[in-house]
Amino acid sequence: MTLTASLNPVLDATASLAPSAFASVPNHVAIIMDGNGRWAKARNLPRLAGHQAGTSNLRRVLRACKNYGIKIVTLYAFSTENWQRPPEEVNGLMRLLEVSIDRELEALHREGVQIRHLGRLDRIPPSLQQKIQRAIEYTRHNTHLILNVALNYGGRAEIVDATRRIIAEGLRPEELDEATFSRYLYTSDLPDPDLIIRTSGEYRVSNFLIWQGAYAEYYVTDVLWPDFDERELLKAIEHYQRRERRFGRVLSA
Ligand code: FPP
Repeated sequence: MTLTASLNPVLDATASLAPSAFASVPNHVAIIMDGNGRWAKARNLPRLAGHQAGTSNLRRVLRACKNYGIKIVTLYAFSTENWQRPPEEVNGLMRLLEVSIDRELEALHREGVQIRHLGRLDRIPPSLQQKIQRAIEYTRHNTHLILNVALNYGGRAEIVDATRRIIAEGLRPEELDEATFSRYLYTSDLPDPDLIIRTSGEYRVSNFLIWQGAYAEYYVTDVLWPDFDERELLKAIEHYQRRERRFGRVLSA
């Protein structure tokens, strides 16, 4: 579904499910996928069942992102703090990620999705590291949508890692400005997120894209991640479209 087609209900039966073509669609959307545990608890299921439902939900949300014209999606899959969860949950999540790559890589590749990883590879199980590296390599020339998976990711760790590389490369203080620093972050060449969505009602940044999110619009919804569908995504985009982005400036009347 293209935006142009979506304006014509004859051409596109899902025309009502499209963002306004008269306001800009966010280029880069980042998502804190929270609430899997609460979703499972509400159904008397183990937490891992919530993560499974959350993973299955990715397919429809990514498809909707692509249909709505979003070009970059960043998902917070596992933070540097998440290692503190019970080992069976951590191992289950790692396994789920491996299975997802095995199951979805070919379809994502066919859809023109370029997969990238944000975070430190070091603590990730070697078998998952290999699958991530293969997925990155396999999809590196795709151009329809960039999918950043933040896994073993922390915003502060990212800033420390960038600083270490800057020092290791011997940059002089006067060579360093904000644009140069940004290039040393995991997101290096990518534009900052325009919209950061957090599901399940908590008003927290949780160490996610703390540098890149400086001017992002935040959208928090009470909807739990496994229930966040294309309609909820559309609500988030419409919310974004109604906001005036000033980047600290005063806009003339
Ligand atoms: C937060 O819910 C969710 C996570 C820590 C994991 C999110 C990961 C996925 C949905 C899998 C991603 C998969 C791929 C392939 C990228 P929570 O457990 O904190 O929920 P709660 O706050 O209700 O307990």
